[in-house]
Amino acid sequence: MAAVATIIVLAAMVGTASAADEDGGKLRQGFYDQSCPRAEQIVRHYMEQHVPHAPSVAATLLRTHFHDCFVRGCDGSVLLNGTNGNEAEKDSPPNASLRGFAFVDRVKAVVEQECPGVVSCADVLALAARDAIGVIGGPFWRVPTGRRDGRVSLKQEALDQIPGPTMNFTDLLASFQSKGLELPDLVWLSGAHTIGIAHCDSFSERLYNFTGRGGPSDADPSLNPVYAANLRRTKCATPTDNTTIVEMDPGSFLTFDLGYYRGLLKSRGLFQSDHALLMDAAARADVESVASGPPEVFFQLFARSMVRLGMLEVKTGGEGEIRRHCAVVNS
Ligand code: HEM
Repeated sequence: MAAVATIIVLAAMVGTASAADEDGGKLRQGFYDQSCPRAEQIVRHYMEQHVPHAPSVAATLLRTHFHDCFVRGCDGSVLLNGTNGNEAEKDSPPNASLRGFAFVDRVKAVVEQECPGVVSCADVLALAARDAIGVIGGPFWRVPTGRRDGRVSLKQEALDQIPGPTMNFTDLLASFQSKGLELPDLVWLSGAHTIGIAHCDSFSERLYNFTGRGGPSDADPSLNPVYAANLRRTKCATPTDNTTIVEMDPGSFLTFDLGYYRGLLKSRGLFQSDHALLMDAAARADVESVASGPPEVFFQLFARSMVRLGMLEVKTGGEGEIRRHCAVVNS
């Protein structure tokens, strides 16, 4: 009890929470209790069975859920394939490195076997992301359900609305605020970069061509020079490398921990958008206070922001549809 009280007090000290945190909005806890009582259990069981064999999938599922929610709300639009006449969100550069689509399709297929046409792909993705993070020892958050699937997915919208790794603090905050999120959400959700991988071309401009002069001496001065040199030597050996991958939190990229925030404070955040969190006094104060631990404080703050992320612009009731296959709209 004392530990829990400490966490709550600490969490209240870093960042603010909104009343929406405890409110599922148009969604509700246990939405499928009558229509598909085992739905959530099936997703959790699938994650428990499969994620231990492929733990890096947790990162991509979390990122996919984020990218879904930032374009047309959390409506599974990121999961749709392009068609002859239309390039979809999936075809957009920010989504090119998402790797969990087949995984989501398989979970959905198992849920469909139990209850055909009942559980949305948007909900399957939200639950799968949450449960995968749980399997790798990360935080737990509530996932109120009842999201319906959208029928529209446009490449350009993903390009315009998903924040990019070269963004500065002002643009990042504006991006989050345009979706109804706030500064604390930006700080805590960025903590997701404590897991997962990035491709060299997401940040190589910081290593080689920061001012446009080019060459190894033209590195971003805000990136730790030892780290930059190491990345150039051992990972991103040329400015044009777009295939090599780098652990975003080196040494613990499969573990949800405080490594991201501690790295930031040593100027070892991989993207300019990571380092940008130190450029704002309030965001920096949040980073500093959470970095010293315990990790449970970060977990609680992250969980709260995940609930808010998962509620963005959801479709409910008679809106959208319940897709049978996540990659295609129902005919
Ligand atoms: C704040 C703005 C953000 C920017 C600019 C950003 C950008 C990026 C980029 C460029 C990558 C690497 C892609 C690659 O090279 O393969 C990445 C990876 C990742 N991002 Fe973010 N991101 C942001 C916020 C978030 C949020 C809010 C989440 C989740 C809550 C998230 C979760 C992840 C995860 C887990 C990965 C690793 C993916 C993997 O292992 O495949 N990011 N992000």
